[in-house]
Amino acid sequence: MGYPLLGFLLLLDLVAITTAAAANGQSSGNITLNSSLTAGAKLSYWLSPSGDFAFGFVPLPGDSSLFLLAIYYATIPNSSNIIWIPALNLTLSLDSSVVLTPDGQLSLRDPTGAEVWNPSVQNAAYAAMLDSGNFVIGSSNGSYLWESFSSPVDTILPTQSLLPNSKLISKLANDDFNEGRFEIIMQGDGSLYFYSISVPTGNLYSAYWSSTQNPSNSRLFFNSSGRIDLVTPTGEVISALTTAVTKSTADFYHRGTIDPDGVFRHYVHPKPSTEGAADQWTVMDFKPADICRTQMKGLGSGTCGFNSYCQYDSSGMVICQCPEGYSWVDPKRTYKGCKPVFAMPSCIDGVQSVGFRMVAVINLDFPLDDYEYFNPMNADECAQRCLEDCFCAASISDGTGNCWKKKFPMSDGVNDTSVQRTAFLKVGSNDALPSLSLGRNKSWTLSTSLGLGGSVLLNFTLVSAILLALHVRRRKSRQRIEDVNLGPSLRSFTFSELEVATKGFGEEVGKGACGTVYRGYLCSEQNGNLDVAVKKLRDFEPEMEKEFTNEVKIIGQTHHKNLVLLLGYCNQGVERLLVYEYMCNGTLASYLFGSVRPPWKQREEIVLGIAKGLCYLHEECSTQIIHCDIKPQNVLLDGNFTAKISDFGLSKLLLTDQTRTITGMRGTKGYVAPEWFKKLGITAKVDVYSFGVMLLEIVCCRRNVEKEMTAEKAVLCFWASDCHKAGRIDLLVEGDDEAMNDMGSVERFVIVALRCLQEDPSLRPSMGRVTQVLEETVAIPLLEIPSEALIL
Ligand SMILES: *[C@@H]1O[C@H](CO)[C@@H](O)[C@H](O)[C@H]1NC(C)=O
Ligand SMILES: *[C@@H]1O[C@H](CO)[C@@H](O)[C@H](O)[C@H]1NC(C)=O
Ligand SMILES: *[C@@H]1O[C@H](CO)[C@@H](O)[C@H](O)[C@H]1NC(C)=O
Ligand SMILES: *[C@@H]1O[C@H](CO)[C@@H](O)[C@H](O)[C@H]1NC(C)=O
Ligand SMILES: *[C@@H]1O[C@H](CO)[C@@H](O)[C@H](O)[C@H]1NC(C)=O
Ligand SMILES: *[C@@H]1O[C@H](CO)[C@@H](O)[C@H](O)[C@H]1NC(C)=O
Ligand SMILES: *[C@@H]1O[C@H](CO)[C@@H](O)[C@H](O)[C@H]1NC(C)=O
Ligand SMILES: *[C@@H]1O[C@H](CO)[C@@H](O)[C@H](O)[C@H]1NC(C)=O
Repeated sequence: MGYPLLGFLLLLDLVAITTAAAANGQSSGNITLNSSLTAGAKLSYWLSPSGDFAFGFVPLPGDSSLFLLAIYYATIPNSSNIIWIPALNLTLSLDSSVVLTPDGQLSLRDPTGAEVWNPSVQNAAYAAMLDSGNFVIGSSNGSYLWESFSSPVDTILPTQSLLPNSKLISKLANDDFNEGRFEIIMQGDGSLYFYSISVPTGNLYSAYWSSTQNPSNSRLFFNSSGRIDLVTPTGEVISALTTAVTKSTADFYHRGTIDPDGVFRHYVHPKPSTEGAADQWTVMDFKPADICRTQMKGLGSGTCGFNSYCQYDSSGMVICQCPEGYSWVDPKRTYKGCKPVFAMPSCIDGVQSVGFRMVAVINLDFPLDDYEYFNPMNADECAQRCLEDCFCAASISDGTGNCWKKKFPMSDGVNDTSVQRTAFLKVGSNDALPSLSLGRNKSWTLSTSLGLGGSVLLNFTLVSAILLALHVRRRKSRQRIEDVNLGPSLRSFTFSELEVATKGFGEEVGKGACGTVYRGYLCSEQNGNLDVAVKKLRDFEPEMEKEFTNEVKIIGQTHHKNLVLLLGYCNQGVERLLVYEYMCNGTLASYLFGSVRPPWKQREEIVLGIAKGLCYLHEECSTQIIHCDIKPQNVLLDGNFTAKISDFGLSKLLLTDQTRTITGMRGTKGYVAPEWFKKLGITAKVDVYSFGVMLLEIVCCRRNVEKEMTAEKAVLCFWASDCHKAGRIDLLVEGDDEAMNDMGSVERFVIVALRCLQEDPSLRPSMGRVTQVLEETVAIPLLEIPSEALIL
């Protein structure tokens, strides 16, 4: 603990502090020009008037020959007291200094005097460490030219905001101040996203938690009574990120920190004057609810390092562990993962089961990294298949006939009693014999390990079956579903869980090509009640199992604010269900074709939202997703009327289904592209066509085909084309004053729609292009639309 014992000093000798501080250029709270601090000196800090916060040099935890320039809790002598540093990965050597120069700049310099950091402020009159924990640099009229609150690192404090287009980034480890693996971004569009990122370049891997979409320029605000809320630009509370009102900010320090494990935690710590409270940081609330089961899809190792797995300690904090047969690459840097302590099979001779054995671990799963999937297959065979496959690092059995083979390295490991799976890990048959050739010569290891392993497996299967039965019973009696993941990761539900959630499939909210949708409610201790829509797929044939798993996997990897979020699924017996977030404003069809015409501005937003969602499906997903059934019934509206595309990613299931039945065609009459009828290859352009039809419907608030109308107007596509040719696009929005006042946009929309309706798919623009034109980032190429282009 190289810290000056500030707490002591403060409590014992306030006078001494004041005098000392004055010698540092600090009087009555303000730091005057030409003041400086030196790393390693006795008084290398400026204090806030209350003495709670300090700005200055602290020894680097773990290496007291190096220093950090930091803002920290002056009364808490521990490395967990640092709340701000100028930049991650900025360590300083002895005799570095920070100077408020006579010409009003703040300059951090290495021992040679070379500047290493400067917040780019000119002509400051003073600086001050405020009692809020904000370090400010002020001008002569008292206004702030710079404040540390505007450039947070991993922590925000009461009265501080995370402003639009800014982010928090975690440290690499508690005592490692390099850039970590997670960040929270407050997007300008009002959504808050948690991302895992790659070290050291910082590119975004995947979002693992996000808020709903809020008004643009919303921000995250830590209010002075200790709540962390998303608020609108005018300060109206939208939703709480965390709540911690039980500890007052008068008696407790509050901080919100994105920790090195990717969890944003709201901590409190009693102030020195508060009696009777444990002298430590206590977690009040956190997001996401269950980081161990929040799979970080795409690349990266998840919360814990590769090959390691995540579990919680008794206080709910994350612990990462190495499985049997593995050890830490670096025990002090567990994010680097675990390495096998035996030589992995080299695959030179293909099958290499000799010298290896399988270790069964119940409640352990590595949910990603599958490369083969078997069903039906019992646990014994699941283990044996992996043992005999030199590519296989582990296999997972769920005890109901499913078996997955995992490749190396494994990621997102989780050990939790709710994981109703058993992992079989391939390890060296004798950990003391790390060399492969040794193992290979001892051919007896195979038979022994099989004999032994077999009975062990049997026992494990029995034990897990009993545990599983007990667990299910306990669950049922509680009638609660725990660990609901609000993030983009998928949860596997049992049929009975969903039966309870939907009150026995009692409330039907829709019917579609794929099945029937029911309203449901999940309760979780973490997240309160969550409204969901449960889609029960109809007539599920066993041979479609693989499609189902694939499609769910693909849908599970999508994450976009204009797509309905898939929360989980159930594949038990013949039941196949999908669990989505519930959209309270229903379908676009009922909104658009109802009795009241929705405002033009809102329709514009909806069009843009759909275009962006489709663009994401076509162009930004790792596996391109063609929707094949774009229509207003498949666009849902959330509480803010944000358009969200639903039913995407199911086309393969339906194609398989429908080819076997009659038409071999997916899609809905009136919206389907001509190539469907011609047995041409189906590309993403079929969605562009359907989007064109829907775009016209949104502009005109009417269905494409309305038989009651006069012949010329009965089919909207034809009529719109005629109006366009006659230069009378205004006829399409007759009586809609708002739209009439925005003819520029109406015209742009109609032209885009007509271009999407070209008969030749190659002449239709891509959704990316459509989005650009709708957003006016590129001009419409004013091409004539060939008259034969339109068919229905
Ligand atoms: C700044 O302080 C140094 C000593 O600490 C002094 O020599 C120098 O004259 C001061 N400069 C100004 C401009 O006040
Ligand atoms: C510092 O705080 C951390 C987290 O609260 C705790 O684990 C550690 O034991 C503390 N160390 C000291 C020296 O108080
Ligand atoms: C205070 O000074 C800053 C620059 O020194 C200036 O931008 C700001 O407008 C001034 N504010 C007032 C209230 O005079
Ligand atoms: C610090 O200086 C500024 C500008 O001179 C002044 O407005 C403010 O009141 C001072 N604060 C204190 C605590 O002296
Ligand atoms: C930290 O900084 C050092 C040199 O300043 C650099 O070599 C290293 O790559 C940086 N690490 C990260 C994670 O940015
Ligand atoms: C902080 O937020 C809570 C809930 O949003 C509110 O009840 C409370 O009044 C707020 N406190 C302040 C000081 O604004
Ligand atoms: C899994 O976690 C439980 C506690 O939740 C623990 O008792 C058990 O030993 C863990 N299993 C492994 C393999 O670490
Ligand atoms: C393995 O067996 C081969 C012949 O079967 C022998 O040449 C080799 O030395 C043996 N290796 C070891 C490490 O015993």
